[in-house]
Amino acid sequence: MENPLQDQLHRPLRDLRISVTDRCNFRCTYCMPIEKYGEDYPFLPKSELLSFEEIERLVRIFVTFGVKKIRLTGGEPLLRRGLGGLIRQLRGVDGVEDIAMTTNGLLLHQYGEELFEAGLRRLNISLDALDPGIFGTMNGRGIRPERILENIDFAGKLGYEIKVNMVVQKGMNDREIIPMAEYFKDRNLTLRLIEYMDVGNDNGWSFEKVTPKAEMLRMLGEAYDLKPVEPSYFGEVAKYYRYSGSTAKLGFITSVSESFCSSCTRARLSSEGKLFTCLFASEGFDLRKLLREGADDADLAAAIRAVWEKRTDRYSDERTEFTARNRKKIGMSYIGG
Ligand code: GTP
Ligand code: 5AD
Ligand code: SF4
Ligand code: SF4
Repeated sequence: MENPLQDQLHRPLRDLRISVTDRCNFRCTYCMPIEKYGEDYPFLPKSELLSFEEIERLVRIFVTFGVKKIRLTGGEPLLRRGLGGLIRQLRGVDGVEDIAMTTNGLLLHQYGEELFEAGLRRLNISLDALDPGIFGTMNGRGIRPERILENIDFAGKLGYEIKVNMVVQKGMNDREIIPMAEYFKDRNLTLRLIEYMDVGNDNGWSFEKVTPKAEMLRMLGEAYDLKPVEPSYFGEVAKYYRYSGSTAKLGFITSVSESFCSSCTRARLSSEGKLFTCLFASEGFDLRKLLREGADDADLAAAIRAVWEKRTDRYSDERTEFTARNRKKIGMSYIGG
């Protein structure tokens, strides 16, 4: 391995989140509001997306800096054709220890098996409510929760390790916390309650729409006895609890009430090959340009090193209503969370 890489706040680089498409078959109100992402939205043409060969080449360089975890995201990653091929390619990269995917789950019945055969083992599946009215409104497409629940069962039977992500928006789906907890506890699946974040520039976020972890824990505490679990590794995003008398776990992702920037080891690669050092960054570094101008591996490595060594991001430590409204940020669907 090359010299250990650290940013300005002494954080190493360990995880790479790779967006494989900016498209999605949902229009979640908090991520791709239909008013902005309508029929005529200019999604990227295929030629502007990194090819699988380009992605693999970059990953081979990222592992030399200590990246071990790869997460495929979107938009909706299952919309990218031939994803099994990419998974096979990435499994073949020495140093990659973990490949996971974050998906809305709608197309899992179609691609779940093929991706499992390609070697994918971990899925984070988003589901915001069991109530069809609430879920249909939040996904912006009237998609029924049963479709996702059936696909979760299907993926479980295939052998995937699954976590369920629920973005909690006060006044929208907070009353679904207990029913969701009950449902997934019974099925021994980990549900993660995510504090609503001010991602992108137009999701209408305010502190008032956030149900902080402490409040969720209070609600849950009336129904269950929850015991905290020690983090499994440095920089783990979620804080986990175990239900007493059960093996099921529940997690919280507390970007707003208890930020975790001090241990943030994540870089993000957009589907068009821009490298971002924070979910809330406004500019990315254009690696595709270098790739397509014929840069060699040493040039690419030097560029990645320079970007990470300059990094000072800690947006969630600094968030205020003012930054939420006025700072220009990349779109959530563009960078994949
Ligand atoms: P695991 O490896 O399974 O723990 O995945 P993960 O939780 O890192 O990934 P996932 O894509 O499931 O993300 C869950 C939620 O955490 C989403 O809302 C992400 O936007 C959020 N998240 C992930 N990483 C970061 C981060 O570095 N900063 C912030 N603010 N939120 C993050
Ligand atoms: N706040 C918190 N989480 C969000 N996600 C999308 N938008 C937001 C937001 N505004 C979640 C998705 C998915 C993951 C990639 O990010 O629900 O689980
Ligand atoms: Fe919803 Fe994820 Fe699609 Fe955004 S990318 S609209 S959060 S399913
Ligand atoms: Fe990392 Fe930025 Fe999230 Fe902080 S806000 S944890 S620096 S991605």
